[in-house]
Amino acid sequence: MGLREVIKPRLQDLVMGMMDDLRPDTIEVAEGCVLEVGFGTGRNLGLYPPGVKSVTGVDPLVTDGVAKVEERIAKAPFPVERTALRADGALPFDAGRFDTVVTTWTLCSIPDAAKALAEMRRVLKPGGRYVFIEHGRSERESTARWQDRINPIWLKIGDGCNINRKIDQLVEGGGFEMTSLDRFTGRGPSIFAALYRGVATRA
Ligand SMILES: C[S@@+](CC[C@H](N)C(=O)[O-])C[C@H]1O[C@@H](n2cnc3c(N)ncnc32)[C@H](O)[C@@H]1O
Repeated sequence: MGLREVIKPRLQDLVMGMMDDLRPDTIEVAEGCVLEVGFGTGRNLGLYPPGVKSVTGVDPLVTDGVAKVEERIAKAPFPVERTALRADGALPFDAGRFDTVVTTWTLCSIPDAAKALAEMRRVLKPGGRYVFIEHGRSERESTARWQDRINPIWLKIGDGCNINRKIDQLVEGGGFEMTSLDRFTGRGPSIFAALYRGVATRA
């Protein structure tokens, strides 16, 4: 294992901890068998409500042996299956297997987000819900222009993160029907702070 593989999950865990106060309103909506795409370091695990039966996490990030992640998995009151896998390939799950699909700050980083959303829709049962909190393109034109300017550079230094994606359009384009969408500004520089919190169902 190289230095990058050692540092990356620990650094990501540190940075993503800054979003923790924004997670509960999204995660509390989950129920049943959950697929969490972009599982990361498992920061959502402690927030799932009692109605959650299992969590399956997919993420190309390898976190085996990272103490905090192992601890979160061990503490979860439901089975957790973690798979080092990209979500924008074919997911190894039957159609309609999951009651809920969750993403938190992940659609920005998936190279082919449309393909991932199509897979997420396929494995979600009819009537199941996709719940998310994501950052993306700002509603303010001047900020959005800056996001377009900075995105090519940020993609390189931000480990594949896009700051200008129209999350609502991506989700709806992936065959989901939005049942609620809250757009608001989080902390920090405005180009990173345009947030989308939503719940969607299979259209
Ligand atoms: C900003 S982090 C968020 C992690 C976690 N969801 C959280 O809220 O702390 C983005 C995550 O997306 C994951 N990711 C990148 N490309 C992916 C892909 N193709 N499929 C699934 N996850 C991916 C990254 O490895 C990373 O863990």
